[in-house]
Amino acid sequence: MDSRPIGVFDSGLGGLTAVRQLTASMPGERIVYFGDTGRVPYGSRSRETIRRYARQDAAFLLSQGVKMIIAACGTVSSVAGDLGESLPVPFLGVLRPTAEAAARATRTGRIGVIGTTATIRSGSYRRALSAIDPSLQVFDRDCPLFVPLVENGFFSVEDPIPRLTAERYLAPLRETGVDTLILGCTHYPLLEPVVQQVMGRNVTLIDSGRETALACRRFLDAQGMGCPEQQGGCRFYVSDRTEGFADIAQILLGRQLEGAVEHIDIESY
Ligand code: DGL
Repeated sequence: MDSRPIGVFDSGLGGLTAVRQLTASMPGERIVYFGDTGRVPYGSRSRETIRRYARQDAAFLLSQGVKMIIAACGTVSSVAGDLGESLPVPFLGVLRPTAEAAARATRTGRIGVIGTTATIRSGSYRRALSAIDPSLQVFDRDCPLFVPLVENGFFSVEDPIPRLTAERYLAPLRETGVDTLILGCTHYPLLEPVVQQVMGRNVTLIDSGRETALACRRFLDAQGMGCPEQQGGCRFYVSDRTEGFADIAQILLGRQLEGAVEHIDIESY
């Protein structure tokens, strides 16, 4: 048993969808969440910048005494997936558990991937899927407008703005006949109903936050590092203003925020 908290970071608030899944599957675990709201988005930045930011984010979480670190960010997991090699605690990105879940789910071997521009440009999911099964066919597409839509509250299935945007991005993927679609960005679960409507009911959507939470649980159980008996809870840190955090965080977390949100100077890590 290891009662230290799990550290989770994301470029901003999207990683809270993974926290939601983590607390659902391991209510006893304590979580320290860092959202780099002062430097979001990562998805349009260079590889070097994303890797530097990821190292700083992990350094902050280490300073909080975490027992493992999760990059709840498709972009970091794609571009800085080797971050764990330099960390003194186990590291888990969203890429591997998500790719494995998609490979299990597909019946036709045709898998779609959507994510930020950096994620898609990195080719990370193509490589991960082909390493699992070289016969898988992968069709990918970046969807740069999805993150700002979610952050601004435009994700209702009734709203024509996300629907038209999704139609524009996803129609070519639908034409390829994929039967499984990876939501390769932690903001995207909020758009799940819209994406499902555009892709059709027969396409299985894979939520990277959910798969990563399940992988985290399997890992902690296997290592004897879980702590199911204690009282869980989350502490939140951001690198920009804390005002307004609760409103959007509540939507992504799916519940009222308990506890305060603190600001930190991430550049000092
Ligand atoms: N959280 C990021 C991801 O999952 C999306 C937001 C960003 O571009 O930083 O890829």
